[in-house]
Amino acid sequence: MRVEIFCERVFVVAKFLVSGGRKLSGEVKVQGSKNSTLPILAATILCEDESVLFNCPKLSDVDASIRILRYLGCRATRSDSTLVVDTTDMKRSDIPHELMREMRSSIIFLGVLIARCGRAKLSLPGGCELGPRPIDLHLSALRQMGIEITEQHGELFCVATDGIKPSKIALSFPSVGATENIMLTAVKAKGTTIITNAAKEPEIEDLAEFLNRCGAKISGAGESTIVIEGVQKLYGCSHSIIPDRIVAATIMSAAAGTSSKVTLDGVIQNHLSAIVPVFEQAGCDISCKDGKLTIDAPYRLRSPKLIRTMPYPGFPTDAQAVVMAMTCKSSGLTVFVENIFESRYKHVDELNRLGANIKVEGKVAVVDGVRHLSGANVHSLDLRGAAALVVASLSAQGNTQISGINHLERGYDEFEVVLQSLGADVKRI
Ligand code: UD1
Repeated sequence: MRVEIFCERVFVVAKFLVSGGRKLSGEVKVQGSKNSTLPILAATILCEDESVLFNCPKLSDVDASIRILRYLGCRATRSDSTLVVDTTDMKRSDIPHELMREMRSSIIFLGVLIARCGRAKLSLPGGCELGPRPIDLHLSALRQMGIEITEQHGELFCVATDGIKPSKIALSFPSVGATENIMLTAVKAKGTTIITNAAKEPEIEDLAEFLNRCGAKISGAGESTIVIEGVQKLYGCSHSIIPDRIVAATIMSAAAGTSSKVTLDGVIQNHLSAIVPVFEQAGCDISCKDGKLTIDAPYRLRSPKLIRTMPYPGFPTDAQAVVMAMTCKSSGLTVFVENIFESRYKHVDELNRLGANIKVEGKVAVVDGVRHLSGANVHSLDLRGAAALVVASLSAQGNTQISGINHLERGYDEFEVVLQSLGADVKRI
């Protein structure tokens, strides 16, 4: 039975109450990737048909995408982690401000609307909690593809009067969102588009795999140069979303921070190639076999010394906060250099309230490991910062109350249930 529940899900202003100090143990399944699900949901628009997506996490950002699809005239139903999207009767090519502002990454609908309707009207996403998030790379690439774009009063008007022109697009930075928007537009171009310095994230590969199953001709996804041969029509298909490597890193951080042994089921080892060495440097034993990763952490972690966030295959910015939470109690100094976003240390003050000793200067944060953290009332200001507070509170003595849990729900599917299954004392209040 399919149940239409995502738009009816109510995200109340919740808090977590964590009673820290318990060891975790057992095995958990890693949810599907948020950052794959969002562009693939947008991509279903290109199919004018029904698509079935497996392993879709239940998240407020996924719900926001569903609301956009429904506003456009598409049908979407969920049964557990399976989403069925039928875009046959899509009628509109605009997205109102109220829907756009719910999720910064809704800019991913720009390319698909142009490719399907020849036009798009949507409001600019603006900044976000990570600092200014420009979309200049998206817009200059689309202009290169012959799209006329007018910006007025915070709105974007885009028209492909002469269709979508194939182009050679050299990105000045391997932006994930810009690479996805170009791919999603170029699949319907009359000819071949080449992106150089493209983002290489696994989520780009997953998007290409979905599109190719639908009939697109994309090669090189996951490498610096992506070649997209335009096709006239795409057909719906079934596709399973890849596991979420950032959620995997979060659970690993929770296990490491509590000196625990935990197994994660459903990981793709290659996707964690920059993450696993950090845990090994911290003294954890990691073994991987048949899609399962087991982490066995020592009594006290060593400092992993230096962590610099970089585009994939470098260490992911999205894992910076949770790994920082893990290092709060390690022995020695850990230096973080945040190279992707300007304002991504908002969790630091809150970690310090739990007793951590972290200093920030520009894009550098230095964690001087302490012996103990202790519970406090803390507030999360962004998605990964919220996850970092959960990780730190699990290893803190006493009770921690974490407010702003709505941020966590953007990216973690029932995280308290996952942690409870490992023996953590986490309650939603
Ligand atoms: C995606 C991820 C996000 C992750 C980020 C970096 C999704 C839904 N979100 O975000 O979780 O943290 O990749 O791995 O997949 N930039 C510009 N101009 C642009 C576009 C980007 O200057 O036109 C800058 C951004 O401000 C930022 C950097 O490039 O400093 C990286 O952004 P980008 O790779 O585009 O990240 P997103 O796609 O927004």
